[in-house]
Amino acid sequence: MDSTPVTTSRRVERLVTGQPTTDGAGVKLLRVLTQDLQRRLDPFLMLDNFASDNPDDYIAGFPNHPHRGFETVTYMIAGRMRHRDSAGHEGLLQNGGVQWMTAGRGLIHSELPEQEEGVMEGFQLWLNLPGRDKMGPPGYRDIQSAEIPEFTAPEGVQVRLIAGRSHGHTGAMDRPVDAWPTDPHYLDLHFPAGGAVFAQPLPSEYNAFVYTYRGSVRIGETVVPRGQMAILGNEGNGVQLQGLPGDTPARALLIAGRPLREPIAQYGPFVMNTREQLIEAVEDFQNGRLA
Ligand code: FE2
Repeated sequence: MDSTPVTTSRRVERLVTGQPTTDGAGVKLLRVLTQDLQRRLDPFLMLDNFASDNPDDYIAGFPNHPHRGFETVTYMIAGRMRHRDSAGHEGLLQNGGVQWMTAGRGLIHSELPEQEEGVMEGFQLWLNLPGRDKMGPPGYRDIQSAEIPEFTAPEGVQVRLIAGRSHGHTGAMDRPVDAWPTDPHYLDLHFPAGGAVFAQPLPSEYNAFVYTYRGSVRIGETVVPRGQMAILGNEGNGVQLQGLPGDTPARALLIAGRPLREPIAQYGPFVMNTREQLIEAVEDFQNGRLA
């Protein structure tokens, strides 16, 4: 997939502004991918961006709560967060690292800041699991910053490859395609000042979006400023992004995956295929069967 040149780039179908939300025990964040976009951006269910240097915005963290039926991917740009779960996993997520948690049939976990001051900035992405894997075993992987492949693309854009394939490199999180039909691609792109172009081949079937978190990037004629998500149309054989001319560098996430095309039923932290499965999830949680 990654060796074909991008001859026709996808265009921006729609720009979406992140919605200020409070979650956990009072963490202020921007919800970028909201529930109404889950079908359009299948297999992705949610993207949150938290970024603050005010401890009141993050100090309460996310005390014990359950999940079932999908994966959470937390990417920390700055700050320290301690993770503990009922399967006995524990880890410290910090600057530039990723925690990839597979909830599977369920677990209860906490995500708590381990700092009382300074900047806390990062993202949490929810990736759906196919119906056949929703009741699979929970899993957890802590990926330290140094384990994330980094390379410089031809025009000088620096790439941190969390998952997927790009320019001959393979992401930190890698599973065989038959075990992971959504084939997620998660790229953190750092554009130097001056308008460098970065191209990523993508099958047109894959749903894809870009979220800018520093400066602005351009896709075709559309400028995607900081704090906005561009939903990419499903045309062409990839996407071409460009930093803006001038002296401002930019950073953006490029996220893409193959849609599952299964029914999506969500109740809070449970994402299943049917309402009956959601009722079962709530009952299992209430009866202590997720711990
Ligand atoms: Fe969580």
